[in-house]
Amino acid sequence: MGPSLVNEDPPLHTSRRQLIREAMVSPQRIEAVTPRIRALAGEYIDRFVSRGHADLVADFAWEIPALVAFAVMGVPDEDVEQAKTFSGRLALFTWGYPSEEEQRTLAAGMGQYWTYAKQHVKRRLEQQTGDYISELINAWRRPGNEELFDENYLVSTMMNFLFAGHETTTNATANGLRALLEQRDQWEALCQDASLIPGAVEEVLRYSSSVVAWRRVATRDTTIGGVPIPAEAKVLAITGSANHDEQVFPEPERLDVTRKNANKHLAFGIGRHLCLGAPLARVEMRIFLEELARRLPHMRLVSGQTFDYSANTSFRGPDHLHVEWDPRQNPVETDR
Ligand code: HEM
Repeated sequence: MGPSLVNEDPPLHTSRRQLIREAMVSPQRIEAVTPRIRALAGEYIDRFVSRGHADLVADFAWEIPALVAFAVMGVPDEDVEQAKTFSGRLALFTWGYPSEEEQRTLAAGMGQYWTYAKQHVKRRLEQQTGDYISELINAWRRPGNEELFDENYLVSTMMNFLFAGHETTTNATANGLRALLEQRDQWEALCQDASLIPGAVEEVLRYSSSVVAWRRVATRDTTIGGVPIPAEAKVLAITGSANHDEQVFPEPERLDVTRKNANKHLAFGIGRHLCLGAPLARVEMRIFLEELARRLPHMRLVSGQTFDYSANTSFRGPDHLHVEWDPRQNPVETDR
């Protein structure tokens, strides 16, 4: 893999980011993928709605963000089953402590995905079909942009898209659902009034973010909060802590889906590297909450379960989230 946007510096980062943003998360792209996200959420809920119990990670939040990423990149439907097998716990590979066995499985998956991404880029170089990779190729071919990328960078971009957009969104969804179901009055509030859901998305990102720390290297001597930081120092900024800063968020330990400034959180980072996928992640999380609140407002956490989180510096989300409900009480008649 070559370099990736998140580790690059201006001026190259600025020019590349501009083209990647236009191709990846333009308002038209988000609008086009929104019905697909809703359809996927609906299909997955169909599979378990009359069962009375589910693991909202394995049965819901794990696969959908990967499928959305594949749709945005233009992976053809017939390849999706194969592509799904490539996407393991990638965050564990780079940020955690995978066992030898896990390293083997993850490395094999990444190698297969790299090979697949190479083929996909080749196909799109020959024929563009309006997806993200096609649009990036079009942008690259515009006069003046030829120096910005090469073929290998496009393949890396496909790898990074899955790195950046899959587990982050899965974990954010699972953290959010756990927080809402544990503070049931907040869940019930948005079940009764769906207009609270966009604010709830911001609040759960603040309250229990899926990315809790991010790294920087100091480009010059500086002082932050009275702490001197020398040039070249490696800094791990605990953004999850900033999201609970009582000077910014009154009563930070309280989950409040009506909180006015919830969107001041740092879940998506800050500054020139601010998450490019934020508009997509926000739409996904909003739709997931809308569909679950509409069809399973009475679901509750299975009591007594323990929540496991993989050990790593930055990415946070439960491995499982078990919920249960009485299917006879399902509000949508065809779901009973
Ligand atoms: C809730 C889900 C997500 C969270 C919490 C999240 C979080 C982050 C964070 C913390 C950064 C680093 C920001 C910084 O350095 O200041 C980042 C960068 C990035 N994210 Fe996300 N992300 C999410 C979803 C996505 C999705 C769905 C995509 C793809 C569509 C994506 C693509 C990117 C890219 C390309 C960057 C690099 C931007 C740059 O360096 O210029 N992210 N994200």
